[in-house]
Amino acid sequence: MTNPRNPSLVCPLLILAALAVGRLDAQEPPSRPAPPQEELDARVRRFLDENRRLWRDLNVPEEDGRRLHELVLQKGFTRALEIGTSTGHSAIWIAWALSKTGGKLITVEIDPGRHRQALQNFERAGLSRYIDARLADAHDLVPKLEGPFDFVFIDADKEWYTNYFRAVLPKLAPGGCIVAHNVGGARRGWVAEFLQVVEATPGLETRVENSRGGGLSISCKTGT
Ligand SMILES: C[S@@+](CC[C@H](N)C(=O)[O-])C[C@H]1O[C@@H](n2cnc3c(N)ncnc32)[C@H](O)[C@@H]1O
Repeated sequence: MTNPRNPSLVCPLLILAALAVGRLDAQEPPSRPAPPQEELDARVRRFLDENRRLWRDLNVPEEDGRRLHELVLQKGFTRALEIGTSTGHSAIWIAWALSKTGGKLITVEIDPGRHRQALQNFERAGLSRYIDARLADAHDLVPKLEGPFDFVFIDADKEWYTNYFRAVLPKLAPGGCIVAHNVGGARRGWVAEFLQVVEATPGLETRVENSRGGGLSISCKTGT
């Protein structure tokens, strides 16, 4: 029998109860101090090296992950949103950069198995405290998110890209960028439709970068 008056049992019981109602979501306890940046960098690098050839769930290739990391760092972004977590490869690159800028990432995934795996990966990489991973249909959740965001990465269901873009645009901070994956190929079908909308949007400067991994469009809000 457990004794609720015994403090050594109460704490684990509370943690179990919180996990059961999804409140802790397997993230690190907020009270644990952040490790020094060099220690975290070494841990993330080790995780990425060990898993380099193990990403099998439509994850971005390393080249594109590095590019996302670089973009967040270059511009000092802190309020990031990712649509399409899968098992967390791109989120790890983004959140690693956010650990250096003092930011946080919200990432959304609809598939429970991938979401669970992503949470484990975030923990193993030491990045959980920088990531708020939501298990949800992004069609419903994204329009409800408050913002503002200065970095948005769209990498979920392709036919919905234009809707995601329209939903996040009003929440984009000045100077912020919306990045979309897999738009570097031929301008046909959904890619053509998406780029047409994005490039015709006033107050945004868009460039498309091709990569072996699918290519990115980067649309940044000009003005104030
Ligand atoms: C290309 S993968 C994302 C890869 C991920 N960014 C990475 O690099 O690790 C697309 C993901 O979007 C998810 N997805 C598709 N439709 C979605 C929706 N309506 N809401 C949330 N996630 C969705 C899929 O389950 C899939 O895991």
